[in-house]
Amino acid sequence: MGSIQTYMTAGHRQCDDSYTSAENAVSAQNWSEADSAWQQFATELEHHLGQEEQLLFPAFEQQTGNTQGPTAVMRMEHEQMRALVADLSGALQARDSDRFLGLGETLMVLMQQHNMKEEQILYPMTDQVIGNSSELVTRLDAF
Ligand SMILES: [Fe+2]
Repeated sequence: MGSIQTYMTAGHRQCDDSYTSAENAVSAQNWSEADSAWQQFATELEHHLGQEEQLLFPAFEQQTGNTQGPTAVMRMEHEQMRALVADLSGALQARDSDRFLGLGETLMVLMQQHNMKEEQILYPMTDQVIGNSSELVTRLDAF
């Protein structure tokens, strides 16, 4: 398997695509499709956050001895993302497309900035500090 950067970046793109499907369905007020697309996005995002929090960040922290640096910031941003996802779920349940799309824009801005930091800084650093990153990629893939 490839690098952590390649593998985890593909996860970001997957989440982006799923969000776009949900957003399109909400815009069209196609609620049954919106419900399933949103469920898929929320599941994929939570899976990705779990891969990072439970495997990737601990590996980085163990190798660098730094638990108060970039991973602490990333964990905090994950909580902000989860709070927005919960708000978006509420807007969807209320069939409030305006609120959903407004909150969705906020979530996407947060995610783009967050993902960029991971893709440009944290993932390459993790590939660098971990001797055998393909072993970690295998574990991430099995998560
Ligand atoms: Fe993250």
